Amino acid sequence: MEVIIRSDAGAVSKGAAQYFKQQLEAKPASVLGLATGSTPVGLYRELIALYQARLLDFSRAASFNLDEYLGLPAAHPGSYHSFMKENLFSHINLPLENQHLPDGTSSDVPAHCISYEESIKSAGGIDLQLLGLGSDGHIGFNEPSSSLSSRTRIKTLTPRTISDNAQYFGGEENVPHHVITMGVGTIMEARQCVVLALGAKKAAAVAAMVEGPITASCPASILQMHPRCTLIIDEAAASALLRGDYYRWVYDNKPLWQKI
Ligand code: PGA
Repeated sequence: MEVIIRSDAGAVSKGAAQYFKQQLEAKPASVLGLATGSTPVGLYRELIALYQARLLDFSRAASFNLDEYLGLPAAHPGSYHSFMKENLFSHINLPLENQHLPDGTSSDVPAHCISYEESIKSAGGIDLQLLGLGSDGHIGFNEPSSSLSSRTRIKTLTPRTISDNAQYFGGEENVPHHVITMGVGTIMEARQCVVLALGAKKAAAVAAMVEGPITASCPASILQMHPRCTLIIDEAAASALLRGDYYRWVYDNKPLWQKI
């Protein structure tokens, strides 16, 4: 796994945007795996700015989001459908029919999960998967103890994740307990992964992901097995890494053609 440590959140977002730019330039009809939460908001602002400057074109791209809360209609302000519309989709030219998120109101959740997996497959698979990192080491909503080969399915949130996300619902008591999430196995099939983490709150999860054992107790640790995974973090999120100096040295000494 490549670890890139940047000074602050702004530099992380700018760096991550370059991965999307390179991907869309190389393959305009790319399939993008998208994430929600506070971490990717700065990246989405960068992508919108690049689109407005005519440096990015999403007209042939497709997207699949990682997850959605169960029971929330798309129009609910706390839904990830609403989040994506507000923070990205309403500002760029990604065709509506190419935007995919799990349906939190599905009446047959297992069948919907199977059809979500099939849609990813029939779109050609995910080219570039964006991931945030939960403070408990989750990716998507694959909480600790998730099978490392899991597929899209229903999951129950941990009390910690419910507390982390309470800000979006005006209190913990309003956060749905269940979600539909791509599985760890689904994520691992993406051709490339870019993981972002910001702030000291993520430092322990970052260290477990990068330098801990591969374990379902930290689902993100399976990304050590991914052939093309880049983690971009700020200094605060890097503060518990044992080999931080080595990762900085590697980045500083990259050949020019490899730099983002
Ligand atoms: P956050 O969530 O970006 O809101 O910190 C990350 C995640 O849970 O994946």
